[in-house]
Amino acid sequence: PRPGVVMTVRSPNIVSAAPILTKLQRDCATPLPVLRQVADAMAADMRAGLEADSGSDLKMILSYVDVLPTGNEKGLFYALDLGGTNFRVLRVQLGGKEERVIATEFEQVSIPQELMFGTSEELFDFIASGLAKFAQKEAGKFHLPQGRTRELGFTFSFPVKQTSIDSGILIKWTKGFAVSGTAGKDVVACLNEAMKRQGLDMRVSALVNDTVGTLAGARYWDDEVMVAVILGTGTNACYVERLDAIPKLHSPNSASGRTIVNTEWGAFSTGLPLTEFDREMDAESINPGEQIFEKTISGMYLGEIVRRVLLRMAKDARLFGDSVPEKLQMPFSLRTPDMCAMQQDTSKDFEVVGSILYDMAGIDSNLCTRKIVIDVCDTIAKRGGRLAGAGIVGILQKLENDSKGVIFGKRTVVAMDGGLYEHYPQYRSYLQDSVTELLGPEISKNIVIEHSKDGSGIGAALLAATNSMYEH
Ligand code: GLC
Repeated sequence: PRPGVVMTVRSPNIVSAAPILTKLQRDCATPLPVLRQVADAMAADMRAGLEADSGSDLKMILSYVDVLPTGNEKGLFYALDLGGTNFRVLRVQLGGKEERVIATEFEQVSIPQELMFGTSEELFDFIASGLAKFAQKEAGKFHLPQGRTRELGFTFSFPVKQTSIDSGILIKWTKGFAVSGTAGKDVVACLNEAMKRQGLDMRVSALVNDTVGTLAGARYWDDEVMVAVILGTGTNACYVERLDAIPKLHSPNSASGRTIVNTEWGAFSTGLPLTEFDREMDAESINPGEQIFEKTISGMYLGEIVRRVLLRMAKDARLFGDSVPEKLQMPFSLRTPDMCAMQQDTSKDFEVVGSILYDMAGIDSNLCTRKIVIDVCDTIAKRGGRLAGAGIVGILQKLENDSKGVIFGKRTVVAMDGGLYEHYPQYRSYLQDSVTELLGPEISKNIVIEHSKDGSGIGAALLAATNSMYEH
């Protein structure tokens, strides 16, 4: 070496993984102008979807929920939540304004993998049998007046073309479900038939998306909730819309003049900063070309994107030594919770990262490779969180432009739920940063982004109460 030139010794694999990381960071970057474009495109796509059913990536589905819970709801109601890796059943005894929620009880059952690829009857039989077992255990503070049929709010978290508050046709499965024979059918009829086969006397009073359930659940406690967002296995948002702002609705008919619109924003795709890894994952998915926003920001996919980047680094830059770890080649072997756990590692040598990589794929890592892995996770989580924030601002902006000052000029609440939002602190703060950057400090003081834990179950039960066939 020439005098004065300091040689730094770096391990060869890191030298060659670095450019892959740099390119990834560049491709995933979400500076303010990109966020702004995404927010604007979200607002424009919403308008197009409100004009006509096939007007946009966003389906802007009418929920038929135009009366929100008031707090006066009374009685025993059930809820069933189907939408991700688990299904949940819940009962709640509502006590009206004074007593509110007297008691709740729930059970959660994980859905066997094979049922996600089976037939419609198999899936609905499994659910109805879980529900029947749960209903049998009704006791204690739960009370159904004699002679009454139990009523159920059914949270079904897939795109459904609603035909009324208690019926709707499945448009398509999302989030890895590929059950045959349900698309094009009324999912309430599917559930009713399965309940009948189980000998269960229960009636679906409300069919709701999980976002709609979350909005109703949050609104029960707080009148200023206008938007609800799910960030879990999948992602979606709904909001309270004025009927006269929905051109595709020809005979607007509701006492309140408002309704909840389910955007199905998972299908959004305009102007997203995507990488070769996203494109490959999409091409190999069971729904290529669909749910692009969902594939970029939601829990089912973040870990998988990270895996694909690490695999490239292992192949092209020998990140984990001479051979490519076999399990790293298996799709979905790195889960978003693992990715999240790695980012929480504060130990000096990133031992947690080391043991997760080892447990996941037998990878022996050193400090340098662990740091690279964390940077990859952070890049993908950051893009996801910031884009989710831009989506939220898009919705708020649309509402604000329709009625100046009503959203930004006063306290407005966005109710959030879903495992990704709940358990991934970095993601959550990237989301908040992006909202604050986009709205500026003054307006963002009025916008409260709030976790509404498991609101969707109670919300569905409340909507079952609102739409009950009995007088209260
Ligand atoms: C998927 C579904 C949508 C649901 C969301 C969150 O995007 O299509 O209906 O709300 O996941 O669970």
